[in-house]
Amino acid sequence: MKVLVLGGAGYIGSHVVKAMLAAGHDVTVFDNLGSGQLGNLFPEAKFIAGDIRHADDVNAAFARGFDGCVHLAAYKAVGESMAEPEKYSVNNISGTLNMLNAACAHGCKNVVFSSSAAVFGSPQYVPIDERHPTDPESYYGFTKLEIERFLAWYDRLKGVRYAALRYFNAAGYDVDGRIDGLERNPQNLLPIVMEVASGWRKELQIFGQDYDTRDGTCVRDYVHVADLAQAHVNALAYIAKNDRSLTVNLGSEKGVTVTEMVEVARKITGKEIPAAYVGRRSGDASALYATSALARETIGWAPKYSDVETLVASTWKVYQKYKAPGEKK
Ligand code: UD1
Repeated sequence: MKVLVLGGAGYIGSHVVKAMLAAGHDVTVFDNLGSGQLGNLFPEAKFIAGDIRHADDVNAAFARGFDGCVHLAAYKAVGESMAEPEKYSVNNISGTLNMLNAACAHGCKNVVFSSSAAVFGSPQYVPIDERHPTDPESYYGFTKLEIERFLAWYDRLKGVRYAALRYFNAAGYDVDGRIDGLERNPQNLLPIVMEVASGWRKELQIFGQDYDTRDGTCVRDYVHVADLAQAHVNALAYIAKNDRSLTVNLGSEKGVTVTEMVEVARKITGKEIPAAYVGRRSGDASALYATSALARETIGWAPKYSDVETLVASTWKVYQKYKAPGEKK
């Protein structure tokens, strides 16, 4: 298939491109390189520099003719979305509408959308399945849920078939080491742990040690980015073949505490990784993990790399190539 990957130079997008190429697709990346990086591009894929906020850019891209697209071009920082909702309205919501309208105008009927577990808000029960009520606690999560609703309407009205993939905590790096661009200003646990291990930060702050979990720290469901990438390939094949849309959770189903993650990182890196327990971070749920039974049944998805050791080791391999953020050795 001819596939357009919007946001294909980003952290998750570059892994999706790699998986799409491996599946034999003819891939074009569309990216404004705002957070994506040239170094994440694959020579086997074509590249269009463009911005999803500009309808003309998006239209010109889709005019090249695609059978399917993967949409990952979005802002994703929860805290920032609460402080600057306007950015998220324009980029995530308006940008997606530009994408959907252009896809329809040019006959691209299959859309794989990068959604998030943030659509659920605080869990009423775990593991979280697809029927769990959606009640986002951040503006970021709200944009993802609204986009899922737009997709459902475009399915009804325009015959667009979509797969909304609700990622839990994406982590890890390409196990072959081909993708090695570090995210700028990472906000998530594992990159921060790696920055401490690399000596770029003094210590890790562990947010809360009085949660009702096995060691008092928060439980999350970390899923390897290569596993997530494979789910996009499977989902695109599913919606195209069955002419049916799909919304699934993507998690490893293994809850891991912050302390457990840090312990594994100490073992694998051989570094001390100083950590201090500080107060809870507002808005953090104590335990968040998925059931991915539906993804298994529908798109035959089974995570291969999402054990904590592989998550940490594949990330550490990339961090070891850098002497400072943005500066390779
Ligand atoms: C993340 C994403 C969110 C996504 C969600 C899916 C961010 C900020 N959040 O949320 O977009 O939708 O996964 O489930 O990108 N922690 C520390 N110290 C730190 C950093 C984190 O103790 O310096 C802890 C947090 O309290 C949390 C865990 O580590 O318990 C993971 O945090 P984080 O990587 O920020 O992800 P989530 O908040 O779970």
